[in-house]
Amino acid sequence: MKSKLKKTAQAFLVIMMAAGTAAAGEPLEFKPLPYAFDALEPHIDARTMEIHYTRHHQAYFNNLLKAVEGTEMAGRSLEDILASADALPAAVRNNGGGHWNHTMFWQVMSPEGGGEPEGALAEQIIRDFGSFAEFQKKFNEAAATRFGSGWAWLCVAEDGSLFVISTPNQDNPLMKAADRRGTPILGLDVWEHAYYLKYQNLRASYIEAFWNVVNWPEVASRYAAAGQKSESLSPD
Ligand SMILES: [Fe+2]
Repeated sequence: MKSKLKKTAQAFLVIMMAAGTAAAGEPLEFKPLPYAFDALEPHIDARTMEIHYTRHHQAYFNNLLKAVEGTEMAGRSLEDILASADALPAAVRNNGGGHWNHTMFWQVMSPEGGGEPEGALAEQIIRDFGSFAEFQKKFNEAAATRFGSGWAWLCVAEDGSLFVISTPNQDNPLMKAADRRGTPILGLDVWEHAYYLKYQNLRASYIEAFWNVVNWPEVASRYAAAGQKSESLSPD
């Protein structure tokens, strides 16, 4: 654990030095997993979590650092880089997307997760999908029908409404390449590396299990933050 913390601190330092300043946004950081590898059992197994976080996510992060080092991107926030380029270099698109997507994925899950959202997010889901069950159906469909590797998302559009979409590979709806752009507030990794050890080819069973670990308070706070962002952008 100590060496992991040291590694994280080193990575943080490297990017701070490369960036010179963090004024343009949050510096790139390989954040600690917010719970133990086995915390999401039995829905997501410990071995999958360990490999997913320490190998896959770490590799995206390391390769992202290499891709931005010495370029003008080194001083900018990842959100800004992903959102502002018409054509991202492949290494930034794949590894930057990979880092952003996984960082979010760990946070929108919790050992105390599951159930349904409350408050403003719950009301917006009913407004845009008719019911929580209808929203789940749409999300499940997006996750199940994404061919090959990719992600399913619940996003906030510029007008504050919610929509479901999927993206291929490590793309996400912040990128100009997305079919529809928005602010993702919930994401599900449907790459085989996310579920194959426990579920083999049964992606639908993994998707079903995911609902037991969704961290709705975190998703709700991302929904609130997305609303504030669009308010500050809209003219008076
Ligand atoms: Fe993944």
